[in-house]
Amino acid sequence: MKKRMIVAANWKMNKNLSEAIEFLEKLNFHIDENDSQSSVIIFPPFIGLESLAGKFNSNNFYLGSQNFYYEESGAFTGEVSISMLEHIGIDYAIIGHSERRSLFYENDNLINKKIRSCLASSINPILCIGESLEQRDSSLTENTLKNQLKSGLKNIDALKLDKLMIAYEPIWAIGTGKTATVDQIYSTHQQIKGILNELFNDESHDLPILYGGSVNDKNAKEIGMIDNVNGFLIGGASLKIETFCEIIDLCNFN
Ligand code: 13P
Repeated sequence: MKKRMIVAANWKMNKNLSEAIEFLEKLNFHIDENDSQSSVIIFPPFIGLESLAGKFNSNNFYLGSQNFYYEESGAFTGEVSISMLEHIGIDYAIIGHSERRSLFYENDNLINKKIRSCLASSINPILCIGESLEQRDSSLTENTLKNQLKSGLKNIDALKLDKLMIAYEPIWAIGTGKTATVDQIYSTHQQIKGILNELFNDESHDLPILYGGSVNDKNAKEIGMIDNVNGFLIGGASLKIETFCEIIDLCNFN
């Protein structure tokens, strides 16, 4: 099977600046020693972005921001704008992560504003969607994902779609050690493709869909082999350099 995977590391609120730099040095050593076929994206906390920018020993390695605010500048205490991220050469941004939705009350309207401002910039958005266990158990998964996609991608120009990626992260699988099964992942990714095709009149067929939720070095190969999985968004298992490098190596499907 030939496919090029996207391996993304969402560090969340982990690693201070020294730890981020140490990780980068070890990652660069691994890049020099191994031939990775995947695209790798690291999402450190804001504090690490500038120090990591432009320092990867490979053109297939990118830097992303876990968050930003959609306004250009102004009185928004604590926020960072997309143009500030562009200025230091950031390539990707995560939008709509379930932790931001639940812990920081980000709603669909805000998520849509972020998606639109990101699509208008040079930064590529990764829109996270996912259902709770309750929703899955009540057969509401497809409906939930449809609502998240519909509102998150409202008024999006289909011509900009090639900048976008979707990360399917079932909330019940995030940080729990409970991974969705191969069948669940395959069928849910198919549902997502169907919804996107409906929303964008078949113009979305190449949009990459990542899976996130307790991906680790033990399950990465099996999940990565699923036909409609284009990559991973990894939390916990991306924090340890050895495990993360192992996952990158397992994703060489060429
Ligand atoms: P875990 O890999 O720790 O389950 O986290 C997944 C996630 O939330 C990535 O964005």
